[in-house]
Amino acid sequence: MIVILLGPPGSGKGTQAKRLVAKWGWPQLSTGDMLRSASTQGTRLGLEAKKLMDKGELVPDEVVIGLIKERAQAADCESGFILDGFPRTLQQAEALDQMLASTGREVDLAVLFLSSDEVLVRRLSGRRTCLKCGSMYQLETMPPRSQGVCDQCGAVLVQRDDDKPEVIKSRLAVYHEKTAVLTEYYRSQGKLRSVDANQPFDAVTVNLIQALTEK
Ligand code: AP5
Repeated sequence: MIVILLGPPGSGKGTQAKRLVAKWGWPQLSTGDMLRSASTQGTRLGLEAKKLMDKGELVPDEVVIGLIKERAQAADCESGFILDGFPRTLQQAEALDQMLASTGREVDLAVLFLSSDEVLVRRLSGRRTCLKCGSMYQLETMPPRSQGVCDQCGAVLVQRDDDKPEVIKSRLAVYHEKTAVLTEYYRSQGKLRSVDANQPFDAVTVNLIQALTEK
């Protein structure tokens, strides 16, 4: 199954994608994670991308389309995958359709995570991430056991550069301007489902699984 988790920054796409990976074993293809990893490794692409990410702007379509094309060809994607943070523009959505069609496949479902900007700003401002193992925390709803230290690997937790208040604002504006249009794109193909992402973690998971399995 090829599933897209669609929704604004902070709506819980990454968190829920990991839960689906644990349940169904399909890989999570997150363009944000791929770009952050390239930036940590100091590649030219990663450093260029970081400049845009730190301002809350989108990385050029051809860059992220290239990343997904390469990753989706891997053997572990044969029986399906979960897209988290891609597509984000109409051009990316059309490129994805073309890429899948060339191997006789298609997107099965896109699930829209519905949330209010107020909740998103609060969640993102309190997010802390482990640089070493990638575990994620939220100071109000999922704090680490010891302040500033990852429960899983003991490394230091940091705030993402793009989780600063002024950048969160631009990311939300970019979402409304460039990504929200994809709702209509998938609705018109009869592939759109939605979940109330303002609920607690486990309730979102239950609703997401329902959305993906209901006929
Ligand atoms: P990316 O990394 O994709 O960021 P995003 O889409 O902005 O998503 P986030 O990771 O911020 O949020 P999320 O919805 O995954 O929520 P999460 O589960 O983390 O992209 C970063 C940047 O890379 C972009 O701005 C852009 O520059 C570039 N980029 C990436 N893809 C691109 C593309 N396709 N095209 C162009 N540029 C691209 O949760 C957030 C917080 O809330 C966490 O702390 C979590 O613990 C907490 N939380 C989650 N769910 C709940 C809940 N139900 N209740 C309470 N707290 C919750």
